[in-house]
Amino acid sequence: MIKVLFICLGNICRSPIAEFVFRDMVSKAGLEEIFHIESRATSREEEGNPVYPPAKVVLAEHGISCAGKTSKVLKAEDYEKFDYLIGMDNMNIRNIERITGKKGGKISKLLSFAGIDAEISDPWYHGGFTRTYEEVLKGCEGFLRYLREKGEI
Ligand code: 4NP
Repeated sequence: MIKVLFICLGNICRSPIAEFVFRDMVSKAGLEEIFHIESRATSREEEGNPVYPPAKVVLAEHGISCAGKTSKVLKAEDYEKFDYLIGMDNMNIRNIERITGKKGGKISKLLSFAGIDAEISDPWYHGGFTRTYEEVLKGCEGFLRYLREKGEI
């Protein structure tokens, strides 16, 4: 089982988009049985809240449902529970390191799997949910390719 945790600040926009895009990708590849995929927030700000409506819309436009998902906060013990802790931007990485007390190792930035040293932009601030979806898609495709090249799948 490959356990993947996507992480952003609020867990209502970027990391839920990543969670459900990656679930969809894995399911279409017939690999859902070997993956466990979730997402978390580094802040308590949105705890318990559902996915932000425009993020829901952009997923629905691609035939993807995120029904039932609510924001959950990252805990130190998640470092041991998951194999990959994947943040969206540099601030997420610093917060993941602070919460888990770990550095590097299982922690990485999503677009690094696509060979790009960049952040997933936050639509909470720029409003461009399609732009964020496309960035996340590129990162998730890169991550799946990375796992194949590594021989994990
Ligand atoms: P996310 O976006 O980290 O992509 O879920 C945000 C959601 C909420 C806040 C910031 C970013 N907030 O400040 O409440």
